[in-house]
Amino acid sequence: MLNKAIHLGLALLSALPAWAACNEDVPANEVGATERIVQMIEESVRAEAKKGAARRDAHAKAHGCVKAQFHVLDKLPEELKVGIFREVRTYPAWIRYSNGSGTVQDDSVGDARGMAIKLMGVKGSESGTQDFVMINHPVFIVRNAADYVEFQKAVSEGNPIKFFFPGLNPFDFRLHELGIALALRGLKVANPLDSRYWSMTPYLFGDTTSMKFSARACGPTSSFIETDSPDFLRDNMRNHLAQGEACFDFMVQLRKRPQLMPIEDPTLEWSEKDSPFIPVARITISPQAFDSPKQMAFCENLSFTPWHALPEHRPLGGINRVRKAVYETISRVRHELNGNPRREPTSF
Ligand code: HEM
Repeated sequence: MLNKAIHLGLALLSALPAWAACNEDVPANEVGATERIVQMIEESVRAEAKKGAARRDAHAKAHGCVKAQFHVLDKLPEELKVGIFREVRTYPAWIRYSNGSGTVQDDSVGDARGMAIKLMGVKGSESGTQDFVMINHPVFIVRNAADYVEFQKAVSEGNPIKFFFPGLNPFDFRLHELGIALALRGLKVANPLDSRYWSMTPYLFGDTTSMKFSARACGPTSSFIETDSPDFLRDNMRNHLAQGEACFDFMVQLRKRPQLMPIEDPTLEWSEKDSPFIPVARITISPQAFDSPKQMAFCENLSFTPWHALPEHRPLGGINRVRKAVYETISRVRHELNGNPRREPTSF
C-alpha cells in the first residue's frame, strides 16, 4: 500500500515540470499588503486631484496615444501558436507612450518610459481587449507585495532612499533594487518610437508554460536628439510620424528553465541565453498626427492593465497580483473624480 502511494507520488512528480512552469506561490501576507498599497495609492490620487484633474498615480505623463496594427506572424512554430498568436491575423491597437513618474515633469528628468499596447476585438477576453504593458528595462525595482508597501511608504514620505536603506543594519539594505533604480533613471531615450520595452513580469503562455514579452523598434534608427523642450519625447514622436512609419517586433521569451526563471521575483532577469526572445508579431504605426487635444484627452481616459487579457495570457506572480486590485481601483477612482465614463475601446 505504502509502495503504491510512493509510486503514485513519483508519477505525479514526473508530470510536474510542465505544470509547475506556471505555478504561483502566494505569501501569507500578500492580501493585507495589497489592501494597504491600494489604500495608499488611492489616497494619493484623491489628494492630487484636489489640485486639478485626477491623473494616473504612475505614468502620469503621456507623450501620446497612436493608432497601430498588430500583425501576428505567419508560419510560427506550433509551440508559439498560443492565445493571441494562435491565428495569423491583424488586430487594431492603441499604444500609449508615457514617462514612469506620477507627476508630469520635464522629459530631461531621468525616468522609466512606458509603452502600453491595447489590442481591440479580442474574442475570449472579458474586456474584449488584450493589453501588453511594458517599460524600457528588463526588470522591476520591487520583488513582492510586502516590499512594495515599504516602497510606496518611502515614496509618499518624499524619501524614496529610505526604501533602499531602511535602517543602519547593512543586511537590510536593498542594493540589488538600488542598482535597478539607478539603471532606470540613467536610461537615455530621445524618441519613444526607437526604443525597446519589456513586460518585466511573467504571464501564462497557454496551459503548460509562461512567458515574458518585449517590443523592439525595427527599421532604421531615427536621428532625433534630446532638445531643450520639456516635451521633446512627444516632439520627436510627432516628427518621426510626420516623416514616415514606425515599427516594432513583438517578441516572447518562454520559461525554458523554471529553476533559473522565477515567477515570484520580477527583479531577476530571465537570461536570454537560456531562452531568447522570439518574434511573434510585427507592430506597424503609420504616419499620423496623434496629439490633437481631442486625441490627447481620449488617451488620458484609456485604462491599461495586465488583467485585460485572454485566459491563456493571465498575469503571474505577486507584483502582477497586486496590480489587479491597484489598476482597477485607480482607473475607477480617476474616472469617477473626472466625471468620465470608463469604457474599453472597440475600434479607432
Ligand atoms: C505593484 C507594482 C505596481 C504598481 C502598484 C503600479 C501602479 C500603477 C498605477 C496606479 C498605474 C496607473 C493605472 C491607471 O490609472 O489606469 C500604472 C500604470 C502603468 N504601469 Fe504600473 N504599477 C506596478 C508595476 C508595474 C510594472 C511591473 C510595470 C512593468 C511593465 C508597470 C508599468 C506601467 C505602465 C507602462 C503604466 C502606464 C499604462 C498606461 O499607459 O496607461 N507597472 N501603474
